Amino acid sequence: MKGIVLQRGLAAKIQLVELPKPALGPNEVLIQVKAAALNHRDEWCRKGLYPNLKDGVVLGSDGAGIVEEVGAEVDPSLIGQEVLINPAKNWGANEKAQSKEFEILGMPSHGTLAEYIAVPADRIHPKPKQLNWEEAAALPLAGLTAYRALVVKGQVQAGDQVLVTGIGGGVAQFAAQFALALGAKVFVSSSAPEKLAQAINQGASGGFNYTEANWSTRALQQTGGMDLVIDGAAGDTLPHLMDVCKPGARLVFYGATRGNPGQLEARKLFWNQLQLIGTTMGTDADFLQMLQLVEKFTIKPVVDQCFPFAQAEEAFDRMKEGKQFGKITLVP
Ligand SMILES: NC(=O)c1ccc[n+]([C@@H]2O[C@H](COP(=O)([O-])OP(=O)(O)OC[C@H]3O[C@@H](n4cnc5c(N)ncnc54)[C@H](OP(=O)(O)O)[C@@H]3O)[C@@H](O)[C@H]2O)c1
Repeated sequence: MKGIVLQRGLAAKIQLVELPKPALGPNEVLIQVKAAALNHRDEWCRKGLYPNLKDGVVLGSDGAGIVEEVGAEVDPSLIGQEVLINPAKNWGANEKAQSKEFEILGMPSHGTLAEYIAVPADRIHPKPKQLNWEEAAALPLAGLTAYRALVVKGQVQAGDQVLVTGIGGGVAQFAAQFALALGAKVFVSSSAPEKLAQAINQGASGGFNYTEANWSTRALQQTGGMDLVIDGAAGDTLPHLMDVCKPGARLVFYGATRGNPGQLEARKLFWNQLQLIGTTMGTDADFLQMLQLVEKFTIKPVVDQCFPFAQAEEAFDRMKEGKQFGKITLVP
């Protein structure tokens, strides 16, 4: 079978290679991958900025496909089912945080950017009927992260003013869609005016370009302030996010695309009763609730562009350059 592996000795850092079809463990299912999707994590792997990297491992955390074979201890009626994969393995018993054994599909274990993948049978879920293969592949990791950030950690309420930053991003797209479905008033930020316009078309009430000076002052004046901020960039934008908040607001961080913040004004934090909250992916229960939300509101993931495996480098470069609006998908 064909698969896209990490190969840090090459200029592209990835390579489409021929691999043996995965062998099945007794509790696993073999999935014929119909579509896979990129997450920023895949690009961090290519840049060498992810822990425990191994060359030769198939990248990719997100995928959807058809169950082709089942292990000795798995219900054979699963064969032929159309499924998507929850890439979060071994969360553990504590709802509040993942265990030390927690692992994400696609490094260090083989991921979804291959014609076949073997996963534990409890990682698969029926593909929501309203989604095509690419949309289904786009959903798992980013949908789960956005759900926990917004609902579990952010405690979003109908009527809340929510700022979702970097709306071109995969997680941000889901956070905005979920927040709108749950009755929040959504504002977005982006580096690209055309992405702000697209988000407003999708139902956002307004948008701000985070590369412009004083954007946070304007945002506060125009909106009256946010109850909740969902951010995956951190870095030097973080203090500006505190400026756009109402007193008592929650700021939920799921990533640090822009690295660590240089300076943080402690007085703003405590005087304004702000809550800075961290989150990572989600529990199995979060995943199920996210799927229910997607089905209930017939939410369709926004697919930016789909590439064949043979053009994987182009797909990764699009993510590296931040050109996307939504999820970048790949098909074998
Ligand atoms: N903890 C977790 O469980 C978890 C899960 C998923 C992702 N993450 C992390 O979260 C980050 C985003 O992941 P992703 O897969 O959604 O990435 P992505 O699809 O590549 O999106 C990245 C987006 O970040 C936005 N951005 C860049 N600089 C920004 C800034 N200063 N302020 C606001 N937004 C900014 C850009 O938005 P515009 O193009 O609109 O400017 C860009 O499109 C990554 O760092 C990733 O590693 C963490």
